[in-house]
Amino acid sequence: MAVLLYAAASVQNANSSGGRAMPESSADRLRQLRELRAQAQLGGGQDKIDRIHAKGRLTARERVHLLLDEGSFLETGVFVTHREPSLADQLPVGDGMITGSGRIDGRQVYVFAQDFTVFGGSMSESNAQKVCRLMDQALENGCPVIGLNDSGGARIQEGVKSLAGYAEIFWRNTMASGVVPQISAIMGPCAGGAVYSPAITDFTLMVDKTSYMFVTGPNVIKMVTNEDVTSEELGGAATHTSRSGVAHLMAASDQDCLLMTRRLLGFLPQNNLEEPPRRAPADLPGRREERLDTLVPDDPRKPYDMREVIGLVVDDGDFLEIQPRYAANIICGFARLDGLPVGVVANQPKVQAGVLDIDASLKAARFIRTCDCFNVPLVTFEDVPGFLPGTDQEFGGIIKHGAKLLYAYCEATVPKLTVITRKAYGGAYDVMSSKHIRADWNVAWPAAELAVMGPEGAVNVLHRERLARSEDPDALRRELVEEYERRFANPYIAAGLGYLDDVIEPRDTRPLLIAALHTLRNKKQLLPPKKHGNIPL
Ligand code: HXC
Repeated sequence: MAVLLYAAASVQNANSSGGRAMPESSADRLRQLRELRAQAQLGGGQDKIDRIHAKGRLTARERVHLLLDEGSFLETGVFVTHREPSLADQLPVGDGMITGSGRIDGRQVYVFAQDFTVFGGSMSESNAQKVCRLMDQALENGCPVIGLNDSGGARIQEGVKSLAGYAEIFWRNTMASGVVPQISAIMGPCAGGAVYSPAITDFTLMVDKTSYMFVTGPNVIKMVTNEDVTSEELGGAATHTSRSGVAHLMAASDQDCLLMTRRLLGFLPQNNLEEPPRRAPADLPGRREERLDTLVPDDPRKPYDMREVIGLVVDDGDFLEIQPRYAANIICGFARLDGLPVGVVANQPKVQAGVLDIDASLKAARFIRTCDCFNVPLVTFEDVPGFLPGTDQEFGGIIKHGAKLLYAYCEATVPKLTVITRKAYGGAYDVMSSKHIRADWNVAWPAAELAVMGPEGAVNVLHRERLARSEDPDALRRELVEEYERRFANPYIAAGLGYLDDVIEPRDTRPLLIAALHTLRNKKQLLPPKKHGNIPL
């Protein structure tokens, strides 16, 4: 507290003189500068830092330094203080918000970090201005913005001024959306309206057990609905990465979260006018993978792990899965092919047979749009039995949510490559990056089945009366199913119509995907001029 009082006294002196209350000699001036700088380093003081460390967490400043390349941080607004008269006896240097720019793998980024040791990291008018200035600069310079959130929300003493600060940030988040990548790391509390800044950004990461996000906390919920729920249950990392889908990645610790942020950024360009960075792989582009030939079971009802397919195809098996614990019936994530970043979208036959439902549609639609914003080509691995039937889904709006996925694929102008590994049934065939919605390169493995529906369902619809009249309906059904499979459940009808570019040996998937990707590197597809489309939200 002594530290804070010193700062308060210095700035009050400065204010009271109407200019700078500066010491006489240059040596004293230097000493004053160093003391103020030391205070800025300490934030709310050593005792509060110790409390943060005791919880196994890092301070805002430590986080910034760990996130960025060593020694690259250039701080801005170092001496900013708040302007709230009721808090005039406490004027922490920097006002609890660390802002500036630095580099990640040599690429420039802008960072802000809320310092929980200063008024609980709360948002004030002046520290919101620091963030706004930083976001403006990030846009002007075409660089990503990373926010390290750890805050009690709007600074209560500042009232509407702090709400105004939040709104200024929300507006900038929206203006920057699709222009520069925005990543939010939630590394402590994030409650009330404050959650809406991360929610607008491209990716939200949360630290397990020490971070939470909710619009209204457990106490208000108890008062309003009489429900008992803990902060962790309501808005912890586990909840938001598996149940609500609000967060994309869960980290085990502060350190893990910052490393994940660095890794994630490696798949994204600096801005929407640049290509994502190529990284030379150890893997050969021509690597053929025999295991793929036998990976899909002969019995179409048997599951297999689409993650294994992805791992065998992409560079060095390196795959950063996004939202791995949410809507696991669809897989989304980043990988590289011959060093070029790609966004992978894949049905997962291991979970609910890879069916598309509301959550899967939302998850994939958002991911596709993120990739499209930032020039990341899309690679789709398809094995989909259709959309999930049921009143839950229909009443929940599977029509409008499924339409989001369809719309996202239709609208995406990045290179789109599709590999059908097994089933491509019904509307889901159209939706999952089919040739008809302007995918660029569509192929199937030999066991693929492209049809309006699965054989059993089709036979029941087409031959219901015949089956009802039959003396041996099971034998007849088997016979009809076999006939249907012979006629429809194969890739050659679609290939004959030109809906597939090729039917390929599974082992060749990697070299062929890479070859196709290289042919599409200069792809330019323009959408009709319009203000913006009207995606069914
Ligand atoms: C001012 C705050 C503050 C806030 C915390 N502090 N939140 N000061 N404004 N919003 C201060 C505390 O007074 C305390 O100061 C210090 O930060 C640490 O807080 P503690 O409560 O001691 O820490 P902890 O026990 O870890 O609890 C953290 C917390 C709790 C859960 C975040 O502080 C809390 O519930 N704060 C209020 C949260 C809130 O309701 N915010 C408004 C949300 S609505 P001292 O001096 O004792 O160290 C909102 C609207 C945004 O934000 C709207 C945008 C549109």
